[in-house]
Amino acid sequence: MTFWYLTISMNLFIKNIAQLVTVASSGGNVKRGPQMGELGVIRNAGVLCREGKIVWVGSMADRSAPIPDEIPELDATGKTVLPGFVDAHTHMMFAGDRSGEFALRASGATYQEIAAQGGGITGTIKHVRSASKKELKHSAARYLGEMMKHGTTAVEIKTGYGLDMDSEVKMLEAINELGNEEIATVVPTFLGAHAVPPEYRANAGEYVRLIIDRMIPYAGKKKLAAFCDVFCEAGYFDVAQSEAILSAGRQWGMLPKIHAEELSLLGGAELAAKLGAVSADHLEHITGHGIRALSEAGVVALLLPGVSFFLNHGYAPARSLIDAGVPVAIATDFNPGSCMSFSMPLMMTIACTHMRMSPEEAITASTLNAAAALNMSSMLGSIEPGKNADIIVADVPDYRHLAYHFGMNHITHTIKNGILLEIP
Ligand code: NIG
Ligand code: FE
Repeated sequence: MTFWYLTISMNLFIKNIAQLVTVASSGGNVKRGPQMGELGVIRNAGVLCREGKIVWVGSMADRSAPIPDEIPELDATGKTVLPGFVDAHTHMMFAGDRSGEFALRASGATYQEIAAQGGGITGTIKHVRSASKKELKHSAARYLGEMMKHGTTAVEIKTGYGLDMDSEVKMLEAINELGNEEIATVVPTFLGAHAVPPEYRANAGEYVRLIIDRMIPYAGKKKLAAFCDVFCEAGYFDVAQSEAILSAGRQWGMLPKIHAEELSLLGGAELAAKLGAVSADHLEHITGHGIRALSEAGVVALLLPGVSFFLNHGYAPARSLIDAGVPVAIATDFNPGSCMSFSMPLMMTIACTHMRMSPEEAITASTLNAAAALNMSSMLGSIEPGKNADIIVADVPDYRHLAYHFGMNHITHTIKNGILLEIP
């Protein structure tokens, strides 16, 4: 990775922080409604990290105990410090690119039209099937390094570009190995139900059986995935198929997530509520009924502003979701087709400009609530004693500038498990 490692110990004292955004939740694992706007900002603050964990957070004026000599220090005078971003929905392990489709869309073609002509997910499958595990890992590791430079410290990565037994296993192994080799937190999700591969087009039911009878038990036995996901969408997997796949995943220890109501309204949100999914993702076409179902079930709505922006297909109703008490998170969906960006700050900008989220809500959605969308908010997503020391330093005078001053990288340091990485 192309960082400058400034420390190798997992101890660090960050001092003189102009603005510390803690996103403190006082024990709550997710923020809803008006709480999403409360960031717990402390001015002229310090954070002490030991053994990779946060052990003290407060105002510099309140720090009476001396900092031991052996603990490295970072002076954050004039800077803003936040929890590392959690990118809880990506398809960032892929091969090839789809710049041709981007050009076609610029001339008026839609994502669905391109997919119907053999492009879309099917286009990427060809490249991933012929790539080696090493090649997949290498390209993902490069992206992961860049993501960390832009402030992301934990990433969920989905399979779903293999769509046969061997290629899905190859992706699962590559994602798990990546997580073992790289410093970022990597969370693997099995998405064998991303599309019906061309060889099963005439018999989608048989592909669903392959997923349920062979792929899921294999991934479950080998503990290769934390979550199971389905693209519940017209022309992909219907609600009944999605339920069967997600239920099988749960039996094998993979918690349900779902791509719901992205290109059309199908009832995926209600299914997410019925199954108690960890998150319902996309939701561009969700109705009031779906919103109420998510709210009652406490499912995290994981919105993907970059997809609506990149495909120009309308935005999820973030305001109605937040006002209904649904915990809202945002992620990039980084993938070669529907969002070729891994920048969480850019997603925050789009969330503010097009979805009427406040800068404060966008930060909560990218940190604590995003960690909740991975069931990891007891460890990640806020700067509080006991949590992992995943912290970012931005050269901005105020946290609003992260979304406001868009199109450039403001992150100067990424701290992962207390280890300080300087962004060159
Ligand atoms: O989340 N919706 C399904 N999957 C991706 C698109 C993946 C692709 O086009 O390669 C998404 O938008
Ligand atoms: Fe996706």
